[in-house]
Amino acid sequence: MTSDTQEMGVKRSAKGLVARDGFSTSLGVLAATLGSAVGLGNIWKFPYLTGENGGAAFILVYVIATLLVGLPVMISEHMLGRRARADAIQTLRVLAPKRQPWWLIGAAGCLSAFLILAFYTEVAGWVFAYIFKALTGSILSTDPTQTSGVFNDMATDPAQSLIWQWVVLAVVGAIIMLGVSKGIERATKRLMPVLFVLLIAVCVRSLTLDGAGEGVKFLLRPDFSKLSGEVLLVAMGLAFFKLSIGMGTMITYGSYFRRNQNIPVTASRVMLADLSVSLLAGMAIFPAVFAFGFSPDAGPSLLFITIPAVFASMPLGEVFIIFFFVLTAIAATGAMLSLFEVPVAVLNEQLGLSRVKATLLTMGLLVLVGAPAALSNSTLDDFKLFDKTMFDLYDYATSNILMPVGGLFLALFVGWVWGYDQVKSALSNDGALRNERVIRAFFGVVKFVTPVLVTLVLLDGLNII
Ligand code: PHE
Repeated sequence: MTSDTQEMGVKRSAKGLVARDGFSTSLGVLAATLGSAVGLGNIWKFPYLTGENGGAAFILVYVIATLLVGLPVMISEHMLGRRARADAIQTLRVLAPKRQPWWLIGAAGCLSAFLILAFYTEVAGWVFAYIFKALTGSILSTDPTQTSGVFNDMATDPAQSLIWQWVVLAVVGAIIMLGVSKGIERATKRLMPVLFVLLIAVCVRSLTLDGAGEGVKFLLRPDFSKLSGEVLLVAMGLAFFKLSIGMGTMITYGSYFRRNQNIPVTASRVMLADLSVSLLAGMAIFPAVFAFGFSPDAGPSLLFITIPAVFASMPLGEVFIIFFFVLTAIAATGAMLSLFEVPVAVLNEQLGLSRVKATLLTMGLLVLVGAPAALSNSTLDDFKLFDKTMFDLYDYATSNILMPVGGLFLALFVGWVWGYDQVKSALSNDGALRNERVIRAFFGVVKFVTPVLVTLVLLDGLNII
């Protein structure tokens, strides 16, 4: 570690070139990390994948993947980022033995961040559009043809799709230019608990609908015949996507962590909170899906066609649905900020671009790379690569290939290259914490269990074995 880094406020790298902003409080670290993890993955992706892949059995695999793969990789990333105090590429360059190309994990991570943003900004665009629609007219209805009509009109209109994506890019770009602690901390700290409470209210309504029981069964009674190699890979990919790992985001965030932050505890809390938000979103959506006779495997539109039905049967639903989409937009923004942070930090620290220029360049590239995803339901719906629209391809390639491969190499790096002594000193905060058992358990998992599981699931899911 460089001696001239500081814990708080402005930091300078060894070369003295780059100022690094940091999180000023421990709560800020937790909130911002959660801000990255909690997002459309919980509210949009988790429910629709659960619906498509058979419910409870999928959730079970997802939880196992979160514990045995997600958590260890997240701890690894926080640990490496804080040790090196640098962006994802530089972190691995500094920590790896000379001439070993582990920094490629960081470089692949930049690519993942880009590709995720390219489709994520589209889904966020739908959320922003729904706030607008809820403000200007009623979108509430318990009739599936009605609610899917509203969604399809929007998603199949090329102009709307592009414009909402650009609105999202402009909003996120503007916040990023304000800097890490100011922009990210302030937005996420206050609003996460409000989202949590609102989701609980929606769950209560959904669970008390007539016929909700089928939805509860769907979420709790596993049907293992639904599992296949592909489904296991999708569940594991979701664990990566959900925790923002395997691509450098959590390395970058770790680089802003305080010296005395208890990393295993922080990461576990983030994991648990993130999991609870996903499960709550599932509980909010599936009872309603079954109660109103919607189909659970509607795919990416599931959230947008189901939620208006739940609010339609709630007092003051017109008002609460606005809150719901505003809070979802904020959660999505927290996640997008952390995604932007990866390429912006690299452009800033590797190429010496100012943060403003780095952000503008990232935004510009995203307008180009994002457009094919935005147009996947309209102009380009017939344009397919590997049998997938660009929206689906970006999503599949990141969650099911790039992030797991990134996570695999990170686990291998920590377990087999960095080694136990380094891990012990990093995770015990140089001996300040008495958490040797935790460290030993972590090390065993990250060295053996995580790499083996990720490899098997990847090979099986991609039909290589
Ligand atoms: N975890 C975020 C979500 O669930 C998405 C994300 C993935 C954010 C990767 C950063 C990096 O919405």
